[in-house]
Amino acid sequence: MKKIRNFCIIAHIDHGKSTLADRLLDYTGSVTDREKQDQLLDSMDLERERGITIKSHAIQMDYIYNGEPYVLNLIDTPGHVDFSYEVSRSIAACEGALLIVDAAQSIQAQTISNLYLALENDLEIIPVLNKVDLPSANPEEVTDDIVDLLGCKPEEVIHASGKTGFGVDKILEAVIERIPAPSGDPDSPLRALVFDSVYNSFRGVETYFRVIDGTIKKGQNIKFVATGKSYFADEVGTLKLKQHPKNEIKTGDVGYLITGIKDAREVKVGDTITDFKNPTTSVIDGFEDVKPMVFAGIYPVDTEDYEELRTSMEKLQLNDASLVFSPESSAALGFGFRCGFLGMLHMEIIQERLEREFNMTVITTVPNVSYHAFTKKYPDQIIIVNNPSDLPDPSGLDRVEEPYIKATIITKADFVGNVMSLCIEKRGQITNQTYLTTERVELSFDMPLAEIVFDFYDRLKTVSKGYASFDYHPIGMRVSKLVRVDILLNAQPVDALSALIHADNAQHIGKKMCEKLKELIPRQQFDIPIQAAIGAKIISRETVKALRKDVTAKCYGGDISRKRKLLEKQKKGKKRMRQVGNVEIPQQAFMAVLKLN
Ligand code: GTP
Repeated sequence: MKKIRNFCIIAHIDHGKSTLADRLLDYTGSVTDREKQDQLLDSMDLERERGITIKSHAIQMDYIYNGEPYVLNLIDTPGHVDFSYEVSRSIAACEGALLIVDAAQSIQAQTISNLYLALENDLEIIPVLNKVDLPSANPEEVTDDIVDLLGCKPEEVIHASGKTGFGVDKILEAVIERIPAPSGDPDSPLRALVFDSVYNSFRGVETYFRVIDGTIKKGQNIKFVATGKSYFADEVGTLKLKQHPKNEIKTGDVGYLITGIKDAREVKVGDTITDFKNPTTSVIDGFEDVKPMVFAGIYPVDTEDYEELRTSMEKLQLNDASLVFSPESSAALGFGFRCGFLGMLHMEIIQERLEREFNMTVITTVPNVSYHAFTKKYPDQIIIVNNPSDLPDPSGLDRVEEPYIKATIITKADFVGNVMSLCIEKRGQITNQTYLTTERVELSFDMPLAEIVFDFYDRLKTVSKGYASFDYHPIGMRVSKLVRVDILLNAQPVDALSALIHADNAQHIGKKMCEKLKELIPRQQFDIPIQAAIGAKIISRETVKALRKDVTAKCYGGDISRKRKLLEKQKKGKKRMRQVGNVEIPQQAFMAVLKLN
């Protein structure tokens, strides 16, 4: 047990976690060239294309140090805020963390938030100054920043490059020398922390766990405490690039478990695994169900595909437990589903997976956060509003509450003004401003979640020329003046275009929405009035003028294949269009409210 080290890598996004992790694997000989290739083929397409880690991965390395064999379990963590809960669980499975800081970018918002998470879990922190090979690297200054942040000595900061492999030996040495071996009682009843799970269509759900006390054995009758379900451990093993089945996984070690579970929802990250007959009395605490943050409707483009969409969503949910959905119907779009996502990135991923893996063409409606509404009649009873159409009638409405977050932004002193204006525009209230150095400032705001889940991050990057990093955590619900802005096309309300908006901005946003929709809705054979309304009151109007020309007219007399090509092209353009009444609405129109500038 003394020869095990469990550690994770924490960093701000793009500071080089995955690259460095690959280097560690290379250096310890944990991957052969052939396996490297395999791994590339196996990993999710989306993950590679977007260059981000979507799911955490765990991997075991064998390493001889000073003539002694060590087992190093590395738990890689996702970097995007949408998946921050997974970071916290991975951290809880470790005794130490490599804190990676980009030598050109220095400390950023997620460096700090992840560091706090690690410190809360009493992890030993090994600071690594990464990307020292970059010409723009600023090692002295960034080392000073790290020393200030951690209160460590400059010589404790390891200089490294994931690109060249420089410093990797020093990192491994520090992992062994500085990170404590796992403690835990081998003789206590089994107690293991679930820190991740992966769905495999052949083998079912693979659960990744860290044994805190006791031993988990092949064939053992085990129980998941939070779900209350019990299973037989069909297979347990360690995770190298491939799975290595073992008879047992002992105290302190990390491994995988296969029980034949076919539904990802049965395995919850953060849950405790114990022995069925001799259960532990001390459950690992901190378990929380992951809650969706953003809701949107997903509808088939073709109404006939509703059942197929349901089947596809069910399959998707089997391997992505964080996706939630329930049937809903819209007067405009017919039958579809209201879906809950961890964030906008998660929403995009789900939409893309539906299209790629299930060949569905879907329309996604305006996303919104989850509001609480209270009526005058029952002022104590929460009505959860995940869809603008669920908002009670204004006449009977007592109040609406919306979720707030604390946002932490780190930027250069030059951009403080721009960042403040943006946050104020987004209904933020500044709560703190600290100069980390003369150049770098940390700003804290209380802001409505609704204002940041959509385009905030892009806007922040623009106003700070890329020199701002951002992180947030929820701080509860607050009363807010919200109204529903409805959109009417051809005098018909289109419920799927409705949005909940702060009353002070409603007039302005209603106008912008009409203008944007005018741009997006293709001209048709007749004039299409576009109106925005709050209740019965029309607040804005635009018109899409009728189209007169026939698209094939100019080919008159031309050969038929050319004509067909044009029609094909037109048909393609129709993909992701939805006929509502007699108006065709393209997908972008449903997102228009998010793209207003
Ligand atoms: P997420 O998984 O999305 O959080 O990112 P990450 O932190 O794992 O970063 P990743 O390893 O994907 O690296 C981000 C970018 O930095 C990539 O383009 C890498 O090629 C580059 N990079 C990583 N390490 C180094 C390094 O040591 N030197 C240089 N020059 N570039 C590096």
